Amino acid sequence: MDTKHSTQAGWRHIALMAIGAVLACMGLCTPAAAQTTALASARSAAVTIGEKACIGCHGQENTHFTETLHAKAFRANPRNERERLVCESCHGPGSLHAKNTKDKSLTIGFTKNWGTPVEQQNESCLGCHQGGNRLHWPGSTHAGNQLGCADCHNPMQKVSTNSLLARSTINETCARCHQQQRAEFNKRSHMPLPEGKMSCVDCHNPHGSVTKPLLKADSTNTVCYACHAEKRGPMLWEHAPVRESCTNCHSPHGSNHDKLLVASRPQLCQQCHSPSVGHPGQFYRGDQTAAAGQVLGGVTSQRVVGRSCQNCHSQIHGSNHPAGARFQR
Ligand code: HEC
Ligand code: HEC
Ligand code: HEC
Ligand code: HEC
Ligand code: HEC
Ligand code: HEC
Ligand code: HEC
Ligand code: HEC
Ligand code: HEC
Ligand code: HEC
Repeated sequence: MDTKHSTQAGWRHIALMAIGAVLACMGLCTPAAAQTTALASARSAAVTIGEKACIGCHGQENTHFTETLHAKAFRANPRNERERLVCESCHGPGSLHAKNTKDKSLTIGFTKNWGTPVEQQNESCLGCHQGGNRLHWPGSTHAGNQLGCADCHNPMQKVSTNSLLARSTINETCARCHQQQRAEFNKRSHMPLPEGKMSCVDCHNPHGSVTKPLLKADSTNTVCYACHAEKRGPMLWEHAPVRESCTNCHSPHGSNHDKLLVASRPQLCQQCHSPSVGHPGQFYRGDQTAAAGQVLGGVTSQRVVGRSCQNCHSQIHGSNHPAGARFQR
């Protein structure tokens, strides 16, 4: 075959396609869209060349890739023609790239430096992974912030036990960008996520969700009921803020107050229950706390100790006792 000739013909074709795409876009598309179209059409002239050709130059990458689920599935048990292509099922037809490895527009790259637009990268993966957990990927916070599948997944290497993650665990994968939430789990009171018994995806779906912020179920409370079923009710006597949202009183990621509470007691309760006259506002004024009692010589209320208001109102999540209207039993 006259490679020189076909390369030049290929190049002319690409140049024309690219110019055509830019012209077609003039006045209609944003510059970014014009560029994206040009990149896609540069590749459209390419044909598949098979994995042997790729491995010839990318032997090192292939060594690691061989251990992954994709490699095993595509090689041992391909379900269709696209899977049979192996490398090119994700990276796209490679004939032009193999001839000119310097032009980055000629293959779909998933690393930051390669510069393939994120939409095109994701399109490649979604071609096989649309729907299911990814039903709400389009329009999700992560998609809107230009995340690529490859920000959390590395299909070239088996770094994690499951799900081809970019880091060894789910929590590590999220922590790359969400340092603050990860740090909150180090507070005094927290659910056992740092201990490895839970992960971010117990409550969130990183691929998108109809419930903000990327929650796995249709409300915050439904997320919590999955593991704290006893709080679901219905109760004979409901405590309104509990039904509304667990986050009225609890910080899901962690807190320096007991039991993940958003404030210490009695202030927690007094945020909502603080009439200026009578119970419960007056039982617990600032000068009646244990600390104020010592410093200011005030009178420490016996009722501030321990569980405070809950010394009497113990059934704070609601009561099933006929006489439990005040959550005392
Ligand atoms: C003639 C050798 C050669 C062949 C054949 C070849 N490549 Fe490449 N490939 C390269 C070189 C060289 C680079 C550039 C590396 C760089 O600049 O970092 C590259 C880069 C890439 C990249 C971008 C890497 C990144 O940084 O994100 C991908 C993806 C890729 N090749 C996939 C393939 C696939 C798939 C095939 C088979 C269809 C293939 N290559 C065939 C030599 C080759
Ligand atoms: C399931 C999709 C998929 C398949 C199949 C696949 N790749 Fe990749 N490839 C990726 C992704 C995603 C990345 C980016 C990984 C990262 O973030 O480092 C990548 C990265 C690369 C790179 C850049 C260097 C690196 O390792 O990060 C090269 C080169 C490459 N792939 C070549 C190949 C070759 C050769 C094959 C076949 C033997 C292949 N790929 C099969 C998705 C795939
Ligand atoms: C040609 C179809 C195809 C393409 C393209 C493809 N995959 Fe897959 N993927 C599969 C198949 C087949 C499996 C095996 C499991 C299954 O049957 O769903 C799989 C499995 C996975 C898994 C689960 C791995 C595990 O250990 O549980 C992840 C994560 C994944 N793919 C991510 C990606 C990402 C990210 C991309 C794009 C870079 C991608 N896939 C591109 C077909 C594809
Ligand atoms: C923000 C991080 C993140 C991004 C971005 C992301 N994923 Fe995932 N993905 C995960 C995590 C974490 C898991 C493991 C979930 C689990 O174990 O329940 C996973 C699991 C998967 C799985 C296997 C289990 C399943 O849900 O079927 C596939 C397939 C998958 N992702 C594909 C994709 C594709 C395709 C994209 C891009 C459109 C993508 N992911 C983007 C974090 C991410
Ligand atoms: C590559 C960086 C990156 C990674 C990795 C990442 N995220 Fe995000 N995430 C973002 C960005 C950017 C936003 C939007 C800005 C913000 O709220 O900080 C976001 C927002 C979120 C939100 C808030 C959504 C909303 O609607 O307000 C949640 C929840 C979230 N991510 C969970 C996760 C989980 C769980 C993982 C791990 C599976 C993960 N993220 C991994 C970058 C990342
Ligand atoms: C026990 C369930 C649960 C777990 C586990 C969890 N989250 Fe959340 N997360 C939530 C809830 C509920 C909200 C909404 C909080 C609100 O409305 O005040 C939230 C909010 C967020 C937000 C939005 C900003 C913020 O901080 O409110 C981000 C980002 C986030 N989570 C990331 C993560 C990451 C990363 C992990 C893993 C380290 C994680 N979450 C683990 C339940 C959880
Ligand atoms: C995947 C399961 C799971 C989900 C979902 C979950 N939790 Fe938990 N939660 C736990 C486990 C495990 C513990 C520790 C129990 C223990 O140590 O006995 C715990 C403990 C707690 C505690 C007590 C903390 C302490 O210091 O004793 C509170 C409060 C709590 N969770 C609130 C919530 C809220 C609010 C939600 C919803 C945003 C939620 N949980 C969702 C598993 C879960
Ligand atoms: C009105 C404030 C408030 C709301 C709303 C609330 N809690 Fe609590 N929760 C508390 C207080 C106060 C404690 C500490 C109880 C104690 O010390 O006996 C607690 C303790 C807990 C505990 C640990 C001890 C136990 O009783 O099992 C769990 C788990 C818990 N809450 C889950 C939830 C869930 C799930 C929701 C949402 C359905 C929720 N909470 C809503 C105030 C609240
Ligand atoms: C986010 C606001 C909020 C917080 C925090 C809160 N409550 Fe409530 N509480 C309410 C609302 C609203 C009602 C229903 C009032 C009504 O029906 O008139 C209620 C009802 C009650 C009742 C029954 C009173 C009645 O009139 O039926 C008691 C007792 C009570 N709360 C105690 C507490 C205690 C103790 C705490 C702290 C552990 C607490 N609450 C925290 C909002 C809150
Ligand atoms: C020593 C026990 C005790 C303590 C401590 C206590 N309460 Fe009460 N609370 C009661 C009793 C008794 C009632 C009246 C019950 C009835 O009328 O059925 C009541 C009634 C209430 C009511 C219903 C409204 C009202 O004024 O009748 C609310 C709300 C309430 N308490 C909140 C609180 C809060 C918030 C705290 C902590 C700041 C607290 N209580 C501490 C015993 C206590």
